[in-house]
Amino acid sequence: MATVAELLQPVEADLDALLADLRSLIGAGHPILQAAAEHLFAAGGKRLRPGIVLLISRAISSDGELGSRHRRLAEITEMIHTASLVHDDVVDEAATRRGVDTVHSRFNHRVAVLAGDFLFAQASWHLANLDDLAVVKLLSRVIMDLADGEVRQGLFRYDTGQTFETYLEKSYCKTASLMANSAKAAGVLGGLPSNQLDDLYRFGRQLGLAFQVVDDILDFTGSDQQLGKPAASDLASGYLTAPVLYALEERPALAGLIEREFSEEGDLEHALEMVRSCEAIPRSNALAEGFAHDAGNAIDWLDPSESRSALLCLPEFVLSRLY
Ligand code: IPE
Ligand code: IPE
Ligand code: MG
Ligand code: MG
Repeated sequence: MATVAELLQPVEADLDALLADLRSLIGAGHPILQAAAEHLFAAGGKRLRPGIVLLISRAISSDGELGSRHRRLAEITEMIHTASLVHDDVVDEAATRRGVDTVHSRFNHRVAVLAGDFLFAQASWHLANLDDLAVVKLLSRVIMDLADGEVRQGLFRYDTGQTFETYLEKSYCKTASLMANSAKAAGVLGGLPSNQLDDLYRFGRQLGLAFQVVDDILDFTGSDQQLGKPAASDLASGYLTAPVLYALEERPALAGLIEREFSEEGDLEHALEMVRSCEAIPRSNALAEGFAHDAGNAIDWLDPSESRSALLCLPEFVLSRLY
């Protein structure tokens, strides 16, 4: 299976330019906030979200070229994503991200909260300057959803009575909303008709849900080093993700350990073992496969191009992180 860099190859030069532009866009702020934001951009993420925006933009453009507004949309998308990570790491008390110290560990909590706000604010400003009300509505909704998702996740900590629906809604808010709405916004800027906008939205939504389920599985099966962030931390924090919700159906004793918040010696290890040893992981894999499959189907109408081919490989790439 191709690496993310290989897949994003049709927009590689665009993504390099994007990173340089992002650095100059955030350059106007206060030095400490700039240093904090720069810290994570320099560590380098997968750039999957701006990659999706750029690939869609190229795939739907009549001459295959990118306009400046599509580039700006990709930058805004990565800014919003990075801001959400800075805040998520504060909420989760995570020590590492992208293989380096998180912003609050490298600097402090005050700086991390402000740096996240600063990035959200910058993103909003550049969004407004696109001068397209429909796009402003789509992306500002994402910022609402991100906050909503974090709050929901917090409210349902250690709650073994929560439904699968609750988990999927939270995952939509935290992850799929950004992919769905930025994909649709690329279509809006490209002047596509509403049925195709709906398809782009569905592509991003299903891909985002697959991505989050895969991330939730990797939290149980991956290592800190492999992930560049702490593994086995969701359950310890009381976040009940797909593997846990499935495991609860098979291992009723798991509920007791969760409900007492792993307060007794060995509880957490015991719980992790229960999740890892039952059908929960294979069932979660199947769930992610279903979402990934839907994502591919949503965009099969795109005209043939290098970018279309790359987009159609993304669902498989998301799943390949599991192997
Ligand atoms: C991390 O996203 C947040 C989740 C949705 C799980 P990525 O894994 O895409 O993070 P980066 O941008 O590559 O670091
Ligand atoms: C990812 O959720 C979505 C965000 C908006 C940060 P997670 O909480 O699963 O992300 P990681 O595991 O910390 O990367
Ligand atoms: Mg997190
Ligand atoms: Mg996670």
